[in-house]
Amino acid sequence: MLVDADRTAVEAAASALPVGRAMAAVADVRRWNEVEQAVAAALARFGRIDWMINSAGGAEHRVLGLGATPFHAYPPEAIDWGLDVNLKGAVYFCRAVLPTMIGQKRGVIINLGSVSGLEGSASAVCYSAAKSGLIGLTKSIALCGAPHGVRACCVSPGPVLTRPGMAAMRTRLGRAATPDEVVDLILYLCSSRAAFITGSNHVIDGGRVCGGPD
Ligand SMILES: NC(=O)c1ccc[n+]([C@@H]2O[C@H](COP(=O)([O-])OP(=O)(O)OC[C@H]3O[C@@H](n4cnc5c(N)ncnc54)[C@H](O)[C@@H]3O)[C@@H](O)[C@H]2O)c1
Repeated sequence: MLVDADRTAVEAAASALPVGRAMAAVADVRRWNEVEQAVAAALARFGRIDWMINSAGGAEHRVLGLGATPFHAYPPEAIDWGLDVNLKGAVYFCRAVLPTMIGQKRGVIINLGSVSGLEGSASAVCYSAAKSGLIGLTKSIALCGAPHGVRACCVSPGPVLTRPGMAAMRTRLGRAATPDEVVDLILYLCSSRAAFITGSNHVIDGGRVCGGPD
């Protein structure tokens, strides 16, 4: 099941999947009741939840069109958006799926972080703080889930070509990731081959956070 606040986008994405049973649901991850309803709809349709990927997010200055507004001039709404979509939404979804995964004695949660959560960002302060927070959330959920066979991992990409503009961002390998490269890592972490991996953050960034002189 795909969940997004944008009905047109999520319905188009679900219908484009080459599997007959993909389902689209509309929910704003900042609203607990909508998150609960999305999880209930998934259970009603599929009967179980094996993997849950927290991917909704974005840098507040880009999504809200703040341009070059510095953090010290942010409107409070931008702070709320940056933290709520990127961190609170993931906390809500973890809370909402854990009872099912614990009951199943099986489940994997993947939180989509970012290298901004490791590097910091002067232009996307709340995004960066939230992405750092996802690493802590992942560790905590791993601890909550471990006695019950539930794993949690964070995947922190560098630039990914979900938008053409990401091609301009610096990496040591001289390019951005393709979306498939990030998906492959997520699929591995969700698979039984990663059965001993939990609580960890997995950077996929073409060497961007290595540091060192250029
Ligand atoms: N693209 C990159 O270069 C990159 C790099 C590092 C991390 N990431 C992370 O990967 C994830 C996916 O990135 P992407 O490039 O596909 O982003 P995207 O902007 O293409 O997709 C983000 C989705 O989140 C949805 N969304 C926004 N607010 C929402 C809300 N309140 N409730 C529900 N849905 C909401 C949007 O409608 C959109 O479909 C994000 O968490 C992003 O921070 C992306």
